[in-house]
Amino acid sequence: MNEKLNLGIIYGGRSGEHEVSLMSARSVLSVIDREKFNVIEIGISRQGQWFLGENLWTMMQNERYDSLTPIIFPPIPQKAGVYTLEEGALTLFAALDVVFPVMHGTFSEDGTLQGLFEMADIAYVGAGVLGSAACMDKGLFKDVMIANQIPTLPYLVFNRTEIQSDLENCLDQAEGIAPYPLFTKPANLGSSVGISKCTSRSDLMEGLMQSALYDRRIVVEKGVNNAREIEISVLGNETPKASVPGEIIPKDIFYTYSEKYINDTAELLVPADLPADLVQELQALALTAYKATDCAGMGRVDFLIDRDNGDYYLNEINTIPGFTKISMYPKLWEASGLPYAELIEALIKLALARKSQRDETTREFRS
Ligand SMILES: Nc1ncnc2c1ncn2[C@@H]1O[C@H](COP(=O)(O)OP(=O)(O)O)[C@@H](O)[C@H]1O
Ligand SMILES: [Mg+2]
Repeated sequence: MNEKLNLGIIYGGRSGEHEVSLMSARSVLSVIDREKFNVIEIGISRQGQWFLGENLWTMMQNERYDSLTPIIFPPIPQKAGVYTLEEGALTLFAALDVVFPVMHGTFSEDGTLQGLFEMADIAYVGAGVLGSAACMDKGLFKDVMIANQIPTLPYLVFNRTEIQSDLENCLDQAEGIAPYPLFTKPANLGSSVGISKCTSRSDLMEGLMQSALYDRRIVVEKGVNNAREIEISVLGNETPKASVPGEIIPKDIFYTYSEKYINDTAELLVPADLPADLVQELQALALTAYKATDCAGMGRVDFLIDRDNGDYYLNEINTIPGFTKISMYPKLWEASGLPYAELIEALIKLALARKSQRDETTREFRS
């Protein structure tokens, strides 16, 4: 990279993972090489408004949106950048060459924001619309795993309306998946929000209701008692690489929201203590899943291993994993020989490479 690129770092967002995004962004911002990049920080409020401003991160943290400048990111090719709207006229504030959405969950990790970037024809870090959406929806994701012979836990998907109109039938069907425990999950969320471990029919009823608060689509899945949680980081576009595995050792009844972000009691073991042949097997599965879902840039692939019989299952891919310096995704790369700052730069290069590849596509056809 010779000329200095305008790099947009976007954080916050209209998702339950707003705070997590701020934490991740703070770490990313602290290592970007300002000799190579002009950094333009962009904050998205909890209500979905886009802002620029002095001390943006702190203002976002304190929800002081009134002191910030509202901006617009129009989905117009060749004009990618952020604009202010003054007296009815759009004024370019900063053109952008590439953006890094350091945001998790709804409206950021699910393909919606990626759609905006595609429309604007701008390079961006991470998976595209398809990969983001496929990895976000825990139900559809499992369908793709099954189609690729990747072991995943048995499950069913229910719509919220089904649950509301015929709860007993949903409970009967869900109980047919496997003996308790069963897990209920909103299909499109993260950070364990809305997830319940259910050990009885009344638990399951509550779990379904709880998950249905957060999504129209609800996944019920066989639970693994006493699961080992193994994570592998993947980096790359069409020839991705897998990191060494890490292990999360939760102290709660499972790896819950409070454990992820409040109590910080879970232990992270890097690398995980696993036999070499199993490591290879899991890395191969991680790469197959990554390619099958058309991921790009990065993805953290999470597995559950049944401690009782050694069976393992691919649980999910996070297309924008937690990105603080102590988060698992960068930690695994660090342990695999790629330090944090270099990782960020590698991701930006991958974003630009993917954009060049997209640009090879013929868009026009006139007969
Ligand atoms: N089928 C399952 N068996 C055992 N534990 C599970 C199962 N599904 C989820 N969990 C627990 O719940 C946590 C969150 O579930 P996960 O599917 O990873 O959703 P999220 O996207 O919120 O991280 C996991 O890290 C694990 O601790
Ligand atoms: Mg998870």
